[in-house]
Amino acid sequence: MDTATMDPARIAPELADDIESVLISHEDIQTRLREIADEIEVDYAGNELLLVGVLKGAYLTMADLCRYIRLPVNVDFMACSSYGSSTRSSGVVRILKDLDTDIEGKHVLIVEDIIDSGLTLDYLVKNLRSRKPASIEVMTLLTKPSQRKVDLAVRYTGFEVPDVFVVGYGLDFAERFRNLPFIGTLRPEAYA
Ligand code: IMP
Ligand code: MG
Repeated sequence: MDTATMDPARIAPELADDIESVLISHEDIQTRLREIADEIEVDYAGNELLLVGVLKGAYLTMADLCRYIRLPVNVDFMACSSYGSSTRSSGVVRILKDLDTDIEGKHVLIVEDIIDSGLTLDYLVKNLRSRKPASIEVMTLLTKPSQRKVDLAVRYTGFEVPDVFVVGYGLDFAERFRNLPFIGTLRPEAYA
């Protein structure tokens, strides 16, 4: 790995200007994803696992996590849009891209970037459960427990974050910052 490109000091200067702090480093993300992959290997040993990544936010988590899981896995993706402001979801979810495959009888693990209110994921789990998978579980890189509006069973959680808007490693603000190799917070001026 070219560690130089993972150095917070080496990100695009246009993006760096808007970053207040690095909350979770690239290294800490990778370490945690390896730990979660180890748990997944034990939990799904002997079963066919289908990872369902939620686009776009989970694309990097999916890419790294699936490479750490030493089991045969299939991957598929969904894209949804949640009506609401740019920093808060409303729970009214529209599916923009559905799965390519039928999940009936399959062991499904949803891979999410962050659970905030939980409304998006609550909708998604209910939607997928109606398709009769053998099992359905959730992995999320980040969680903001203080904002939860629905009770959700989350099997694997990467990190708890405080109630601040975070960007990077897949997460965006107005479609920017997804390619940062770490999770960071934005300077207040960046919202303006
Ligand atoms: P929820 O429906 O409120 O749980 O919101 C979940 C979705 O909102 C996530 O999948 C993200 O796309 C987005 N989101 C929530 N909090 C953040 C954040 O701090 N940064 C970037 N996106 C966020
Ligand atoms: Mg998302």
